[in-house]
Amino acid sequence: MRTPATRREPGGELIKRVAPLETVSRGTNPCIQRASATTNRNKGSFETERRARLEPTGAAEGMTVDEPATDQIARREPECFVVTLIVNSQTRSVAIDSRTSLLDLLRERLALTGAKKGCDHGQCGACTVHLDGRRVVSCLVPAVQADGRAVTTIEGLLGPSGELHPMQQSFVEHDALQCGYCTPGQIMSAVACVEEGHAGTPDQIREYMSGNICRCGAYTGIVTAIEDAARKMRRT
Ligand code: FES
Ligand code: FES
Repeated sequence: MRTPATRREPGGELIKRVAPLETVSRGTNPCIQRASATTNRNKGSFETERRARLEPTGAAEGMTVDEPATDQIARREPECFVVTLIVNSQTRSVAIDSRTSLLDLLRERLALTGAKKGCDHGQCGACTVHLDGRRVVSCLVPAVQADGRAVTTIEGLLGPSGELHPMQQSFVEHDALQCGYCTPGQIMSAVACVEEGHAGTPDQIREYMSGNICRCGAYTGIVTAIEDAARKMRRT
């Protein structure tokens, strides 16, 4: 006798019956294929087990499965470029893989580890450097785009005798940091913020520094330090 597809419970709820495993086509259901392979393995069917392992899961019998695109991408040779940058007033030429970010070039090829890798997604500002005098998040800038351009990192802010930049000095004086991980990015952004003319009031500073996240929450000190440094930078 056939089992009805549905039945009604005493409360009136309609219950849908699930078809017994044997009634579902083995060829179209990957879960059934795997279940069947397990059953046959228990019976000692080596061939079924081997096929279950070798066949891509999810493929119905007789289907052609293309190789995954990621496999093809992994095999593609990266392109190589030689880029020449003026980094902190020094000309540097480096051969790089075309996929290298400016941040990785600075940190891993030029040993300039001041710029930090926080999120690597353009969201925290820890990697901020200046490119032709404008602040950029270097994790989002392809290094090839910086070819022939001037890059300034936190290491390049020091004066000729190694003295701190007024912004660095102000961060120290106002205790504008805790762990310090965000600090190089904060300082590079703060210098640009002042030079852009966006450090007139605490509110303006907060607005134009909003791309720089401080996980330690040292924002009060940071805003005070920028206000103070802005006054000193305007005098010089
Ligand atoms: Fe570049 Fe966070 S590491 S924005
Ligand atoms: Fe720790 Fe800003 S001082 S993240």
